[in-house]
Amino acid sequence: MSRFLVEGGHPLSGEVPVQGAKNSVLPILAATLLNGGVTELRGCPRLRDVDASVEILRYLGCDAVWQEDVLTVDTSGLCRWDIADTLMREMRSSAIFLGAILARCGQAELTYPGGCELGPRPIDLHISGLRQLGAEIEEEGGALHCRAPALRGRDIVLSLPSVGATENLMLAACGAEGVTRIVNAAREPEIVDLQNYLRACGAEVSGAGTDQVSVTGKRPLHDCTYTVMPDRIAAATYLCAAASAGGEVRLLGARERHLSTVTAALREAGCTVTGDSGGITCRAPERLRSVSPVRTAPYPGFPTDAQSVLMAALLRSRGTTVFEENIFTSRYRHVDELIRMGGSIQVSGRVAVVTGVERLHGACVRSTDLRGGAALCVAALAAEGVSHVENISHIDRGYEDLARDLESLGAKILREET
Ligand code: EPU
Repeated sequence: MSRFLVEGGHPLSGEVPVQGAKNSVLPILAATLLNGGVTELRGCPRLRDVDASVEILRYLGCDAVWQEDVLTVDTSGLCRWDIADTLMREMRSSAIFLGAILARCGQAELTYPGGCELGPRPIDLHISGLRQLGAEIEEEGGALHCRAPALRGRDIVLSLPSVGATENLMLAACGAEGVTRIVNAAREPEIVDLQNYLRACGAEVSGAGTDQVSVTGKRPLHDCTYTVMPDRIAAATYLCAAASAGGEVRLLGARERHLSTVTAALREAGCTVTGDSGGITCRAPERLRSVSPVRTAPYPGFPTDAQSVLMAALLRSRGTTVFEENIFTSRYRHVDELIRMGGSIQVSGRVAVVTGVERLHGACVRSTDLRGGAALCVAALAAEGVSHVENISHIDRGYEDLARDLESLGAKILREET
């Protein structure tokens, strides 16, 4: 077990590079199965969830070798189409292997995926879409037996723009005869990154970033080298860290166009935020102000993944801010922990009302999930005294080294193995 010790009250200053995007690299790692050859992934973040994907690739018979931040995957040795339940449970993204394995092998044996506890996270849209492409899928006691001797492209209308379902169907569609059009597709930047990777392998994919993605399947794919986009949620976390602790930070490589709802909220709170081709700079005022209601929504709306870190930054603001969480039903699990630090937050259903307080104090708190854990660190930076943030294995799923990055910006944060 590990924990962070955070001494609050030290403003941040300096610059830090932003890691490669977790939510891009995970579907891309599943997609590496499609070319049956070598992918050199640059800017690949070293995360627990990436390790879990690498484990799955190795289990399937593929090679994966790290050299600094380059992960080279060779999927030519693929020799099975099942994934062990213990590997599936490691993370939610394991579900994306289904589309890729089906496209490559015409069959797959998987179980339901794990992941952060954010409320029910079904994969019904993934399964229904794959069935529409011609896969026969039987569900039995948590196992999925899938056969797809011949996938056939067609129009698939998603009832909601699920990120994972869009990705899964894009991968399956690469192995389907003819054209697949995913209607009401998710528009997240990570979908565009997946499209760019697939194109770099020779696939015919277009429309990512809009609500219709088209894939012409059965194109011959080849080896490729690809650089993963910067992580917009890690960037949002560090912007909120600066807003919380005070000071001025520059996030190298961060792209403001991916984060416009977050930077708009921070500007409204009184921060000076500027984006340019090299990154984003954020200067925080002495004390933040409350902001207009923050409603999470699919991209380009306010990202659910940034809800907790913005909430943490606003705990000491002047005034009251209303949050409305519209993506996951159970994404306020960090709230009780923030209250332990002196935060004033009232939750009712999907709404949380934050009334700014003058002071936060250090406390012993537990990470409940990845972004919730990051939020505790963001709040601890502004709290008087020392906070102990326990259960940080959640944070390791998505941040390469939160303590290293915050420390390089002047925070007093220490990782302790207990
Ligand atoms: N949903 C269904 N049925 C489905 C799929 C989704 O009902 O078949 C529901 C979910 O239960 C949820 C909503 O649709 O309420 C959105 O789910 P979506 O499929 O869009 O999310 P995801 O693919 O499971 C990805 C990210 C999450 C991020 C969400 C929303 C990855 C690996 N994960 O999850 O990231 O919160 O999109 O943007 O890309 C994180 O990084 O901390 C994280 C949780």
